[in-house]
Amino acid sequence: MNASLTPRPVRRARIASLATYVPPKVLSNADLEKMVDTSDEWIRQRTGIRERHIVDPGVATSDLAAAASREAIARAGLTPSDIDFIVVGTTTPDMLFPSTACLLQAKLGADHAWGYDLLAACSGFTYALTTASQMVASGASRYALVVGADVMSSIIDYTDRTTCVLFGDGAGAVIVEASDGEAGMIDFLNYVDGHGGDALCMPAGGSLRPASKETIEGRLHYVKQDGQSVFRFAVRNTEDACRRLLERNGIDASHIDLFVSHQANQRIIRSAAEKLGIPDEKVVINIERFGNTTAGTIPLALNDAVDEGRLKAGDLLLVASVGAGFTVSAILMRWGLKA
Ligand code: ACO
Repeated sequence: MNASLTPRPVRRARIASLATYVPPKVLSNADLEKMVDTSDEWIRQRTGIRERHIVDPGVATSDLAAAASREAIARAGLTPSDIDFIVVGTTTPDMLFPSTACLLQAKLGADHAWGYDLLAACSGFTYALTTASQMVASGASRYALVVGADVMSSIIDYTDRTTCVLFGDGAGAVIVEASDGEAGMIDFLNYVDGHGGDALCMPAGGSLRPASKETIEGRLHYVKQDGQSVFRFAVRNTEDACRRLLERNGIDASHIDLFVSHQANQRIIRSAAEKLGIPDEKVVINIERFGNTTAGTIPLALNDAVDEGRLKAGDLLLVASVGAGFTVSAILMRWGLKA
């Protein structure tokens, strides 16, 4: 038999290391009170957010991605040359093209890697992790770098109180490699409901409405959203995706050690967790410090959980996200970083 036709054995992919980066500048609720008609009390009650980090002018998504990636590569005991595949989940690429993955490859000196960007909004990290895991499990990639990074402050209208209080900037990176034990991805359930596109979007700047005087005057290069319909969809589908994923793996929610959901709104996370029967002590919420960093929230939440000793080797982890599109993702994995 021709060796090239021999199927590669399917292995399990696991997260070998994790690192995050947020820019140092903090934008607090008190700062926003001076910019728009809002209050610290309203923001905390409705969203759980106290502050978020934002970049200085000239700092781009690839800069945040590079800072997180360098650390993740070092923590895995690797060098940039060991990376053979890069996926960057982002909604705010440095430019429409070339991809942020290409810019990141150059910044890191990851001279053996190919890669691309993946646009799934708030599900950017989970979709990228799912994709890279298939590459590793098939044997097509040995060390994949998966990044979730966004500079949301570059597309937020700081005169619109309904959106500007929600978002922050940040990045997280993981190395995905083949697992030699129980640790790793068990299953994932991702889907899209493209009918929800209008509920959360940036109307101009793409091929439909290229940048023009009219689009700029109409403030169409900023995030627009129907908050309530996004909220309802997020609660219903976070629960639905997780429930179906658990059911098809024969796992009861009580066996989940930690639930890490996209951090869009504390009320969305608590409501979904409650419907799933996951108690508060198993739910990670760090939105108060970072706001919604879009593709950055899941690695930022995982990182806090590890630092706080809440996520340990062998734990059964349920990850979920809902984002613009709409995109939905639920991932089940057995945690196990390199020692
Ligand atoms: N400060 C003070 N008042 C405000 C603010 C603000 N920042 N924003 C809105 N309001 C006002 C509204 O104008 C409204 O006033 P009115 O009653 O006089 O008309 C009132 O507060 C209530 O507004 P609602 O939109 O009903 O408030 P709600 O409780 O739905 O909260 C929110 C709004 C926080 C946006 C919520 O709908 C939400 O979180 N939606 C999910 C959106 C999201 O997170 N999207 C991002 C990514 S997608 C994803 O990650 C799932």
